[in-house]
Amino acid sequence: MKALITAGGQGTRLRPITYTINKHLFPIANKPMIFHALEKIAKVGIKEVAININEGDKELPVAVGQGKKFGLKITYLEQKGGPLGLAHIIANAKSWIGQDDLLFYLGDNIVAGDLKPLIDKFYQEKLDCLLALSHVRDPKRFGVPVIQKGKILKVEEKPAKPKSNFAVTGIYVYKPIIVEATSRIKPSARGEYEISDAHTYLIKKNYRIGYQEITGWWKDTGKPEDLLEGNSLILSSLQGLDLPFTQLKKEWQIEGAVKIGKGTKLRGRVVIRGPVIIGENCLIENACIDPYTSVGDNVIIQGTEVSHSIICSGTQILQCGVRIVDSLIGRNSIVKAEDFTLPSGHKLIIGDNAQVEL
Ligand code: DAU
Repeated sequence: MKALITAGGQGTRLRPITYTINKHLFPIANKPMIFHALEKIAKVGIKEVAININEGDKELPVAVGQGKKFGLKITYLEQKGGPLGLAHIIANAKSWIGQDDLLFYLGDNIVAGDLKPLIDKFYQEKLDCLLALSHVRDPKRFGVPVIQKGKILKVEEKPAKPKSNFAVTGIYVYKPIIVEATSRIKPSARGEYEISDAHTYLIKKNYRIGYQEITGWWKDTGKPEDLLEGNSLILSSLQGLDLPFTQLKKEWQIEGAVKIGKGTKLRGRVVIRGPVIIGENCLIENACIDPYTSVGDNVIIQGTEVSHSIICSGTQILQCGVRIVDSLIGRNSIVKAEDFTLPSGHKLIIGDNAQVEL
């Protein structure tokens, strides 16, 4: 079995973040989002992976590399003609897929559990296609299966009136027949070759489609809260203490699951309540880091309390005097207390499409 991961598309819903970084590279628990997919895939013993990228994308191949560190061989496939839909990605990868079975994994999906039960079920039930489903509150945003007596009758893409509370998640297992299915469908009203239509094609042609419900699934929707939820999902599997020092000073209070990278220093009164991950070469001084926070490398946090947030590498948060919560702060940013000068007030230098709550 080979794996094909998606990492193209526009990322418009995640602006301003995606102005300077491909969303699949945005850090979730201090790892680029797509690394979580690669690790899951390596764990089930798949060796050959292709990543679908936008035409001319140089950033992603440079950041991800050839796969050695994951024990994978990674090939990059440019999506010729533009981001024309998920079925188009598979059709575009036809010669790479050849006659092999395929795990298709949307690179902006995060799952807490293992992929093995899905693959086992696919082979045990001799399926042509296995869909991983998850119960959701808002099925309208997803591919939704119509299920009767335990069988999927069709899959509707983003239906106005969903016929179940299941979403088809971004993890699919296929026999190579999926390639033919993706070449037999027409673009949808929104102009995309929909993977849901390829699934309905397989059902109509009497191929064997099965499903498996999964829990602990997250899909970004473009709001900062959603990225924070993905971050929390991954951090909740963190265990124990992993610290670069053996002696804890009495003015430090570290509790729960906490991982701190090498070269990071704590100074003065520091409280860290896990699950929290802090990268390498940071300085945390007279500060409190609360649960579900990820802090990248080379970050300075002084005199501030940070909770349920993602602070990217190279950023400085200095003497803020307020608690920073539910926040996403990009790379190399500076957040500090306002100076005691007139006119008083908050000084904001913010790019396009930002979101600030004062
Ligand atoms: O996440 C689950 C959902 O993913 C399913 O329930 C839907 O049936 C399925 O159509 C898909 O819906 P989305 O609208 O959420 O897909 P999105 O456009 O966000 O793209 C998903 C991934 O594929 C993401 O990694 C971007 C990438 N992509 C997308 C398109 C349309 C490409 O690489 N090329 C593309 O042409």
